[in-house]
Amino acid sequence: MKTVYFDNAATTQIREEVIASITGVMQNNYGNPSSSHSFGRSSKSLVEKSRKAIAGFFNVSASEIIFTSGGTEADNLVLRSAVRDLGIKEIITSKIEHHAVLHTVDQLKAEHRISIKYVKTEPDGSINPLHLESLLANSSKKQLVSLMQVNNEIGNILNVKGVADMCKTYNALFHTDAVQTIGHYNLDLQEVPIDFLAASAHKFHGPKGVGFAFIRKHTGLKPLIHGGEQERGLRAGTESVHNIVGLKTALQYAYDNLEKETAYIKGLKQYFIDKLSKAIPKVTFNGLSADLEASTYTLVNVCLPVAPEKATMLLFQLDLKGIACSKGSACQSGSSEGSHVLAEILSEEDMQKPSVRFSFSIYNTKDEIDYVVGVLKDLVEA
Ligand SMILES: Cc1ncc(COP(=O)(O)O)c(C=O)c1O
Repeated sequence: MKTVYFDNAATTQIREEVIASITGVMQNNYGNPSSSHSFGRSSKSLVEKSRKAIAGFFNVSASEIIFTSGGTEADNLVLRSAVRDLGIKEIITSKIEHHAVLHTVDQLKAEHRISIKYVKTEPDGSINPLHLESLLANSSKKQLVSLMQVNNEIGNILNVKGVADMCKTYNALFHTDAVQTIGHYNLDLQEVPIDFLAASAHKFHGPKGVGFAFIRKHTGLKPLIHGGEQERGLRAGTESVHNIVGLKTALQYAYDNLEKETAYIKGLKQYFIDKLSKAIPKVTFNGLSADLEASTYTLVNVCLPVAPEKATMLLFQLDLKGIACSKGSACQSGSSEGSHVLAEILSEEDMQKPSVRFSFSIYNTKDEIDYVVGVLKDLVEA
């Protein structure tokens, strides 16, 4: 059966070169980086060289990069320590963040009785900056803002420079979940005064189970996981050396080829939007995902003109046709597993229709888009 993988916002295929770098380390560098003998020192050197290279992409110091098991842990590390160790009494976030942030702040509220404020989102999924400013201006509590740089469901891009500057004005800390942007967009952290950031390797053709937190110097963050002195005391546990090298290699390829690969994937997204709009004129696009400047070039979220009783079947049928994509509608078939993001921004009527996220990578082709659009047209017309 023909298969098409259009779920790159969930995870990506690992690059060949990244696999080679990982297996090379597994074969040749099995020393524990904390050991003082030559085996340990060679592993340690790989970890530190990787950290330095990664820091270089964002114009920060190596000591500001802390390796974690992925984006979820990086978000938890920052949010939990900010409340526990930095005296944060109020977190400002939005209802359309990833659960790694939303469930963590819920938990922090229950554990520490901190205040949580949600910035208003517009029907197009954008964050209302005036409301953010009023939340910052009208509080005497020590605040942290946590807003994602690119929304993983609808692709909206946040102006992180604007938010970071605003946070500085009001003396609040700023954390951004940049899991969907690192490896896809350049970011100079000397120009953009973000305090904390979360990233994950498997979103940019790297391995699963590794990511990093950027923690700006002198913020005073403390560890979530206690034990050894690894990661400058900020994250105990033997470093996953092969994964860290894989992360570095994936990021190196991503940034070395950024312009070319961005143009290619952007071209695919535009082609998909044009083809789908022609094939199914009543299709609509959720959030700002049809706007190639205001949303990430890697994904599009479509709302299909299908009667509610046919909606569940349609999503099943895509899978039967070998098409991997992500279901994005909150309450088709009354399921409780729907999207909290779409529930926040869509009308009642659109919530009854199936919404699907298609996300692209360098490994996709226009032929695959032709196939998927053809299948969608047939299913919608059936
Ligand atoms: C925006 C966002 N944040 C956090 C995560 C979690 O990252 P990880 O899978 O590395 O824990 C994801 C991945 O699904 C994501 O898309």
